[in-house]
Amino acid sequence: MRRLDQLLSSLGYCSRKEAQALCDEGRVLVGSEVLDDASRRVDPDQVKLDDEPLEFPNGLLVMLHKPVGLVCSHDEKEGPRVYDLLPERWQQRDPKVTSIGRLDKDTSGLLLFTDQGALVQRLTSPRHHVDKVYLATLDREATPEMSEAFARGLELVEGNERVKTLPAVLKPLGDRRAEVTLREGKYHQVRRMFTAVGAQVTSLERTRFGEWSLGDLPAGEWRAIPLP
Ligand code: URA
Repeated sequence: MRRLDQLLSSLGYCSRKEAQALCDEGRVLVGSEVLDDASRRVDPDQVKLDDEPLEFPNGLLVMLHKPVGLVCSHDEKEGPRVYDLLPERWQQRDPKVTSIGRLDKDTSGLLLFTDQGALVQRLTSPRHHVDKVYLATLDREATPEMSEAFARGLELVEGNERVKTLPAVLKPLGDRRAEVTLREGKYHQVRRMFTAVGAQVTSLERTRFGEWSLGDLPAGEWRAIPLP
């Protein structure tokens, strides 16, 4: 049970003060009862605003098919953002809705968003062994030697340091395409791993993240998935 004014403001509908005005206007129902006091404790699943149930009142998890050309930053100065493809109200939610990991501007595919901080930790930490699968198009054919190098782990330069990647699976698919499975998410990792073995990535799409696959979700669209 939560105070209605806190609930509506945390879901981005209005400020806590405005919640009382919504009640005064008779726009808030709890079950079939019109609620007149915004300080009342309510069951979030029972609340309707303007006859609509509240959006994800107990936590949000969605997948987006990120198109190429959008950045995963919250900062509008960095260019068109993935957040602009999601409902505007979500940007007012608290806890904040964020992507679980990021994809480069030039990478498309499956991107998850949530307001559950613990889930972000769990799905992005290499310790939890969550597979991320990418479909890469290259400037040449992937070779068995490249697959061996991915499996051994590669050294990537990061500032003044060299960091070793965890073992990864590279499966050549022919037609200069390859599937790559990683358990971590270093900056531009797939592109940098191919560069390290002498190939360039010409396009990159993430098709799977843990238990979730992109399926036939069209580019630019999102859909809700149950919280695990
Ligand atoms: N590897 C990359 O190079 N880019 C991404 O966006 C994700 C993985």
